Amino acid sequence: MTDLAVIGLGYVGLPLAREAVAAGLAVAGYDENPDVVTGLNRGRSHVDDVSDAEVRAMRAAGFTADHRAAVLGAAHVVVICVPTPLHTDGTPDLDPVCRATRTLAPHLTRGTLVVLESTTYPGTTDEVVRPALEQATGMTAGADFHLAFSPERIDPGNKGFGLRNTPKVVGGLTPGCAQAAAAFYGKVCDTVVMAKGTREAEMAKLLENTYRNVNIALVNELALIAHQLNVDLWDAIACAATKPFGFQSFRPGPGVGGHCIPVDPGYLIHQARAAGCAVRLVELAQEINRSMPAHVVRRAAEVLGRPLRGTSVLLAGVTYKADVSDLRETPARPVVRGLRAAGARVAYHDPHAPAFAVDGRPVRRVRDVVRAAAAADLTVLLQPHTVYDLDAIVAAAPLALDVRGCTRSGAELL
Ligand SMILES: NC(=O)c1ccc[n+]([C@@H]2O[C@H](COP(=O)([O-])OP(=O)(O)OC[C@H]3O[C@@H](n4cnc5c(N)ncnc54)[C@H](O)[C@@H]3O)[C@@H](O)[C@H]2O)c1
Repeated sequence: MTDLAVIGLGYVGLPLAREAVAAGLAVAGYDENPDVVTGLNRGRSHVDDVSDAEVRAMRAAGFTADHRAAVLGAAHVVVICVPTPLHTDGTPDLDPVCRATRTLAPHLTRGTLVVLESTTYPGTTDEVVRPALEQATGMTAGADFHLAFSPERIDPGNKGFGLRNTPKVVGGLTPGCAQAAAAFYGKVCDTVVMAKGTREAEMAKLLENTYRNVNIALVNELALIAHQLNVDLWDAIACAATKPFGFQSFRPGPGVGGHCIPVDPGYLIHQARAAGCAVRLVELAQEINRSMPAHVVRRAAEVLGRPLRGTSVLLAGVTYKADVSDLRETPARPVVRGLRAAGARVAYHDPHAPAFAVDGRPVRRVRDVVRAAAAADLTVLLQPHTVYDLDAIVAAAPLALDVRGCTRSGAELL
C-alpha cells in the first residue's frame, strides 16, 4: 500500500509528492504524459521549484511515477492535481478533471480519501467529481470513501513560502471527510485551515486569484492614466506602500500570465453567469489586463518616435513572471504578435526560455542581452529576471522601455 497517490505531476502535484516523501510517506505518482513519467523515474525534474537532486532523493526514498492507473488502487489518499484550463470561448475546460476521475474510479477502494486540488468553480467537487465517482463505483461519498477539496496555493519561484509553511485550506463533503483531509494535510503542512465545506474551499481559491487579477488591473489602469498625467506611478506606489494598514501594493506590467491569474477568474465568471449573476468588476479587470500588451506596443512606437515598421525590437524576459521558465499565457506572446503585425523585427533574450514561438513562428533568440540591446533600435524590459544587470542593458540600448518600473533612470516607463 502507498500512503499517497498524486494524479498529475506538474507544478502542483510534484511539490506535493516531494513534501509527502519528505514527511516520510510512501508516495506514488500517476501522470498520463509518458515523458513526464520517464523523466521523473530517471531523476529529472520538469518543474522549476523541484530540482533534479530532489527528484533523485524522492526516488531513493521509494517514489515512483507511473502512467498505469493501477498504481491508484493501492493508495490511502489520492490527490488530483490536473490542469483546469479554459476553452477557446473562455468557458471552463474540466476535461482533465473528468478524465482523472474516470481513471481513478475503477481503482477506488473503500475508505480512500480523494482530494481535488485543481482550481475550479464552487460546486465542482460535489457536482462533477462526486457523482462521477459514485456512479462508476456504486459507493457513496462520505460513507464509503472520503471526498474533499483543498486549493493549492503554490507560488512558483517563491523561496520563502512553499507547501509546508503556507496554511492549507481544506473543505470536506461531510465533517468526516473534512477530518480525514485535515489529518492527511497535517502531515505535510504546518497549518490546516478548515473551510465550511468544499464550495467555500473552492471559492477561497478563486477569491485569492481574482483579488490579484482585479488589483493588478487597477494599477494597470492607473499606469495608463499616470503616463498621461506625467506621474511616475511606481514612485507613487512605493509611497502608498509605506502606509502600515489598509493598503497592499500591486505593480503594473504588460498584462497577467501563468496558469492561474488570467484563467481562474474565467471559472468564477462562468459559474456566476450560469447562476444568473453579473460579475462586472471581474470582467472589467480581465478586459483591462488583456489590453496591456497592445499598450506596450503603442508605447514602443512612441518611444521610438516613428512607426514600428522595419525597426528591430529586443524583448528582455519573455516568461510570465521573473525567475521562472513558465511561458503559459505569457503576455510576451500578444506583445510579439502586436509588434510583428506593426512590421517590427522581434528578437528575445531569456535565460529561462531556450525557445519561444508565437503562432507557430519562432522568435529569434539572442545569447548576449547587453550586446543585443546595443544593436536593437529598442529594448523592451518585459521581465526583470534577477540575473539581469538592468542598468547595463539600459546603458547599452539606444532606447529602452521598462514596462515593470524596475530601472530608475535611462529607460522610458510604461
Ligand atoms: N502552477 C501554479 O502555480 C498553480 C498554483 C495553484 C494552483 N494551480 C492549479 O493546480 C492545477 C494543476 O496545475 P499545474 O500548474 O500543476 O499543471 P501542470 O500542467 O504543470 O501539470 C499537470 C500535469 O497533469 C497531467 N495530467 C493532465 N491531465 C491528466 C489526467 N487526466 N490524468 C493524469 N495526468 C494528467 C499533465 O500531463 C501534467 O503533467 C490547476 O488547476 C491549476 O490552476 C496551479
